[in-house]
Amino acid sequence: MAYNLLKGKKGIIFGALDEKSIAWKTALKCYEEGAQLVLTNAPVALRMGEINKLAKECGDAPVIGADVTNMDDLKILFEKSMVHFGGKIDFILHSIGMSINVRKGKNYTELNYEWNQKTLDISATSLHRILRTAWDLDAINEWGSVVALTYIASQRVFPDYSEMADAKSLLESITRTFGYYYGEKKKVRVNTISQSPTKTTAGSGVKGFDGFIGYAEKMSPLGNASAEDCAGYIAVMFSDMTRMVTMQNLFHDGGFSFTGVSAAVIEAMENTAGDSVSG
Ligand SMILES: NC(=O)c1ccc[n+]([C@@H]2O[C@H](COP(=O)([O-])OP(=O)(O)OC[C@H]3O[C@@H](n4cnc5c(N)ncnc54)[C@H](O)[C@@H]3O)[C@@H](O)[C@H]2O)c1
Repeated sequence: MAYNLLKGKKGIIFGALDEKSIAWKTALKCYEEGAQLVLTNAPVALRMGEINKLAKECGDAPVIGADVTNMDDLKILFEKSMVHFGGKIDFILHSIGMSINVRKGKNYTELNYEWNQKTLDISATSLHRILRTAWDLDAINEWGSVVALTYIASQRVFPDYSEMADAKSLLESITRTFGYYYGEKKKVRVNTISQSPTKTTAGSGVKGFDGFIGYAEKMSPLGNASAEDCAGYIAVMFSDMTRMVTMQNLFHDGGFSFTGVSAAVIEAMENTAGDSVSG
């Protein structure tokens, strides 16, 4: 069911790789809620061609390639988007993450620092680059809303999340600090949403992901939040219903973040203890 929450609004969605992507589901949800969209991803991701399917389903939205570590790409993206929309932008989704060390199987204690720089640039500083580009071009309307996706490993240790934990901490810090400046200057809001583990290309790259997603499911009173659920929350954050929310890290995790232990986890531990005694 649609509520017309985003009627008349215009937004840029970064990071729709395939149908599993949180950005993919968000684009569909925003379109369903009445928004006009521009879709963007790294040129190498666009070569897969998948995104053109999404563009069709979003009313033939333009697809504009941009590597988020390249300021010229970002400037062209914003300029073209404003020409397409015939004006400024109301919302932006930053749904971008990539860890080179995780991908190459390097443990946190033996990071390759060149790869680490790249990881931080793609996954965190890119939010600064996007906001800075929009700021310089005065590309976002007053009361516009920017959302970036994060994960609770920014605040607590989840060992195999490795350098991405540092990237998410930086992402959340940029959200607060740029959110302060953009709020003061233009009433633009910047928030992160801290999402449950979700089966996507980026998510599944983390070692032990299947075991971990099962654990999170057991530790969350409502269960893990799906990508579709996340898309709904993001649409609300882009709407005028959340005008006074900014600089926040908002948990969208079925209650995981505030659960110390759950009955389901205790039961699983008791079963394991039973096994080891009898074994
Ligand atoms: N999947 C999870 O468990 C989970 C949980 C919490 C937060 N998140 C976050 O959600 C966001 C979206 O990830 P996802 O799970 O939908 O996976 P995904 O793999 O579908 O999306 C990641 C996107 O980042 C893009 N990207 C990588 N390098 C880029 C570059 N240089 N320039 C532009 N784009 C680039 C990829 O092309 C891809 O579209 C990420 O920030 C991720 O960390 C994911």
